[in-house]
Amino acid sequence: MKFGHFDDEQREYVISRPDTPLPWINYLGCEAYFGLMSNTAGGYSFYRDARLRRLTRYRYNNAPLDMGGRYLYLRDAAGRYWSPTWMPTRVKLDEYECRHGQGYTIITSKFNGMKFSARYFVPLGESLEIWQVTLTNENASPADLSLFSAVEFCLWDANDDATNYQRNYSIGQVEIVDDVIYHKSEYRERRDHFAYFACSEKLAGFDTIREEFLGPYRGWDEPVVVEEGKSRNSEAHGWQPIGSHHVNVRLKAGEQKQIIFILGYHENPKDDKFDPPGSQVINKKTVKPVIAKYLKSENADKAFNDLREYWTGLLGKIQVTTPDEHTNRMVNIWNAYQCMVTFNMSRSASYFESGIGRGMGFRDSTQDLLGFVHMVPERARERILDVSATQLKNGGAFHQYQPLTKRGNNDVGSGFNDDPLWLVLAVSAYLRESGDWSILDEPVQYENEPGTESSLYEHLQRAIQYILDRPGPHKLPLIGRADWNDCLNLNCFSDTPGQSFQTTTNKDGKSAESVFIAGLFVLACREMAGIAEHCGDQAQVEKVKKSAAEMEKVVWAAGWDGEWFRRAYDDFGHALGSKENAEGRIFIEPQGICVMAGLGLDAAPSSGSGNAVKALDAVREHLATPHGIVLNQPAFSQYYLHLGEISSYPAGYKENASVFCHTNPWVMIAETVVGRGDKAFDYYTRINPSAREEISELHKCEPYVYAQMIAGKDAVKPGEAKNSWLSGTAAWNYVAITQHILGIRPAFDGLEVRPVFPPGWDGFEAARDFRGVRYEISVKREGAGNSVSLEVDGKSILGTLIPLPDANKKTVKVKAVVR
Ligand code: BGC
Ligand code: NOJ
Repeated sequence: MKFGHFDDEQREYVISRPDTPLPWINYLGCEAYFGLMSNTAGGYSFYRDARLRRLTRYRYNNAPLDMGGRYLYLRDAAGRYWSPTWMPTRVKLDEYECRHGQGYTIITSKFNGMKFSARYFVPLGESLEIWQVTLTNENASPADLSLFSAVEFCLWDANDDATNYQRNYSIGQVEIVDDVIYHKSEYRERRDHFAYFACSEKLAGFDTIREEFLGPYRGWDEPVVVEEGKSRNSEAHGWQPIGSHHVNVRLKAGEQKQIIFILGYHENPKDDKFDPPGSQVINKKTVKPVIAKYLKSENADKAFNDLREYWTGLLGKIQVTTPDEHTNRMVNIWNAYQCMVTFNMSRSASYFESGIGRGMGFRDSTQDLLGFVHMVPERARERILDVSATQLKNGGAFHQYQPLTKRGNNDVGSGFNDDPLWLVLAVSAYLRESGDWSILDEPVQYENEPGTESSLYEHLQRAIQYILDRPGPHKLPLIGRADWNDCLNLNCFSDTPGQSFQTTTNKDGKSAESVFIAGLFVLACREMAGIAEHCGDQAQVEKVKKSAAEMEKVVWAAGWDGEWFRRAYDDFGHALGSKENAEGRIFIEPQGICVMAGLGLDAAPSSGSGNAVKALDAVREHLATPHGIVLNQPAFSQYYLHLGEISSYPAGYKENASVFCHTNPWVMIAETVVGRGDKAFDYYTRINPSAREEISELHKCEPYVYAQMIAGKDAVKPGEAKNSWLSGTAAWNYVAITQHILGIRPAFDGLEVRPVFPPGWDGFEAARDFRGVRYEISVKREGAGNSVSLEVDGKSILGTLIPLPDANKKTVKVKAVVR
């Protein structure tokens, strides 16, 4: 069952009823000011940091769901009132539609002949959001309406706001000047920032005290002020400050009117906070012109058009036309968009991430980069330099860092032994995309400590050395706290409720090893060899090649189980992910990553010839389900002290045998490595959210973005997704489809075109920007295999790498024939 449809022309998802299985959200903002925006106007806003600069409140586990947002109420002369965005009153609307686009949301509705439309977005370069409301009276008689707005301010630090009531009930402060509501809590002392809520109309009244607006013991669904049709002009002093405007709207039959609201964040110089100086009144000199500007429709319209163009530019960098509409819309629109959202949010704020928990993950950010580097290479460069400055001197990494300070997070610390290797992959992706080799010479600190700088190139070497310095009993890499699978905590042994699985370690860590890290190491070494080669550093090339070859031998000796790759060795030295195990006999991660790294290919000069195909066949046999490939089988049916969090989840959820979508593209890529495009694409389609749109009542999450997990076959409801938006799934699926299945892959010295796609397709078209050149690529299938012949601007070339064209060339035409 569907709850809407895709409008690919407009690049929008159109939701046609408000009661979606879960709030289906979108993100406003793409630079510094952000809002989460659900299809019924729920959500909240913040400036840069969802925890420390939260503008509005949100309660995650509330009932009803999704209560708290950007609310509007309409009230007619007869005293009937409704929410034109359905929530919070949930009065049945005659018409409803929500369109989520890139960085904006438009909600339209109709109730008793009153048409409502609101466009919500954040103008580029500004720290404010606009709600552009249009009311049309479609009745034959005049309408006499009241429009009320309502937001609930958060007292900045969202964590403190939700916990420290003995202080917080006394600090709320507002100013109401020229019909603008200013939220100035804590401005009197150390803050130099405030929020404001403005309206383009002369106000009939306002409220800033929540209890006055709602009435005691009432909720947002029946505010007493709306019921009575009259604001109380309340001025907040402590308790719960809110912002609510009251506007009288008189519309003749057929008349239309636009009303604009602005919710914004503003900073003043520390020494010029008050006006007049010495008073306690906010200095509004610099904010007033901004407010005045965007309260004008024409400026708001222009800002909206600029935003649309900005996204046209970003998404335009890769556009494809394949025989599959789900592929087309995910690649051309939604998957790329989601990658940008993960760039902005990392894992901080979604409807499943509270914005007060995690900072930026080292491995998360470096993997996210793979999906956005082609859209914003300059910002990717900055991200790489920020992340690598949190690397430890020993080559390891702080597991997380704080976005506001960009410093490593001491609470979580380090010791996730896969972390540093992802940096190699990220830097390699950046170099391939941009050709900007100068980044390798950038001096970068370790542990954010001035004076410790070395070149980024050396950071990469230390990342690799970190693994070499930590061999376990079988010479496989020691796992540390966890590898990619945060829940495989082999050194944790926690039997105390409430302890963090991530930071508790009761074992000395000298025993448990990871086959996954071994595979990732080989992959990273391959990238490093390419980088070193390009730098003319032959010694480094030899070194990493040798290290990779040795690691491969170790994998065949200790990491191969006969039919598939093992997962790990636990603290007792027992294999995990092996026939020997009753539960957790096979895991997806090492199958994907080891084959991606080239282990077990026929051509590989190792004892593992043919094992790649074997491992992938085992995945198909034991792990593949109609909803995607589950993480492990059999699921863990009880808690195992020596395995940690993975066995804490009921079977079929999260890391315990759900379809953990992040891992699926590794298998897709691996299938292309062994030349099976049909299987790769089949897996791609199983978890493609657009392809799952028809089962939205089961899938539950948004059909336009990936979710982190889909409940596995052992779960009560297989197929039910959770944790949408912020997941490495976005980047990896984007890489799998664009670079491996469609096979358009940036290389160090050119663009490679080497698709491995389903034999059933007769071809596809693609356009890709690469190093300032537009490549127009047309692929034709003339046989069922994967052998590719290329014609570049009318001339055949040898191989599949298109060398960089002359400097003045702006377009290159590529014809590929696949046989
Ligand atoms: C989740 C993991 C996550 C980890 C880090 C765990 O509870 O299951 O997916 O990576 O927390 O916070
Ligand atoms: C989500 C985390 O953000 C990511 O870092 C981790 O790899 C996966 N969970 C798997 O545990």
